[in-house]
Amino acid sequence: MTNMNHLLALAAAAAVASGAQAQTPKAELESVQRAVHVCASCHGENGVSAKALIPSLAGQPREYTIRQLKDFRSQSRSETDIQAYMWGISALLSDEQIEGFADYYAAQKPPVGKSTQPKLEAAGRAIYEQGLPGKGVLPCKQCHGDNAEGASGFPRLAGQKADYVYKQLQAFRTPLRPHGVVMKNEIAAMSAQQLKAVAAYVQSR
Ligand code: HEC
Ligand code: HEC
Repeated sequence: MTNMNHLLALAAAAAVASGAQAQTPKAELESVQRAVHVCASCHGENGVSAKALIPSLAGQPREYTIRQLKDFRSQSRSETDIQAYMWGISALLSDEQIEGFADYYAAQKPPVGKSTQPKLEAAGRAIYEQGLPGKGVLPCKQCHGDNAEGASGFPRLAGQKADYVYKQLQAFRTPLRPHGVVMKNEIAAMSAQQLKAVAAYVQSR
């Protein structure tokens, strides 16, 4: 798919999301800005979120974003906030539009890590790099990368807000986030404190 097709897909998504009719190619192109602005109102300019419970999308691997948007559209990822914020908008998106958003965000500059709790982060780093061998917890870096940069279906975690990360780790304990069986195994034996530590660590990266 060409870049221009992506732009048009984004424009069409904006038109639907804003209830407007995109009538001329020019109007469609002008509304490209609006397309991403619909998302930016929550996820931040260029996909870098300023809010604790809203994830950054910038720098997220394309494959991961596509999977999540499809999970929202099929209503298989169904945490309360996903239902409230993402079900409605994702229902309007075609596969091509989803790919357009995924490409756009994969190309944005990722969020910069922020260290707030050095002690907790150090405990989280040990889990991130070594896992908890006695408990069957694999090192997170095996899938999420040495720098938590993610790849393909493994999300980027670096710079993601600790509150959001912690909330997702808890969500994997429930049927509301059904995909990522490996994650469910991963966290089964981890305490809330250990999840908080690793969430603080990835935010700091
Ligand atoms: C009204 C606010 C709002 C708008 C508008 C919005 N989102 Fe979201 N989005 C959220 C919230 C809140 C979450 C996280 C909910 C949770 O799991 O706690 C989320 C989650 C996501 C995720 C999952 C990220 C991850 O790391 O798993 C993706 C992808 C996403 N949104 C893409 C988009 C795109 C693309 C748009 C524009 C078409 C958009 N969102 C518009 C609020 C919004
Ligand atoms: C064997 C591979 C694997 C390992 C090891 C692993 N993960 Fe994951 N992780 C995944 C996959 C795959 C997903 C995406 C699941 C989905 O599609 O919803 C994921 C998703 C996540 C998410 C959701 C991100 C978001 O934006 O919503 C978080 C947070 C996370 N992992 C943290 C961790 C932490 C912390 C560890 C170490 C304790 C870890 N992972 C170890 C494979 C792994």
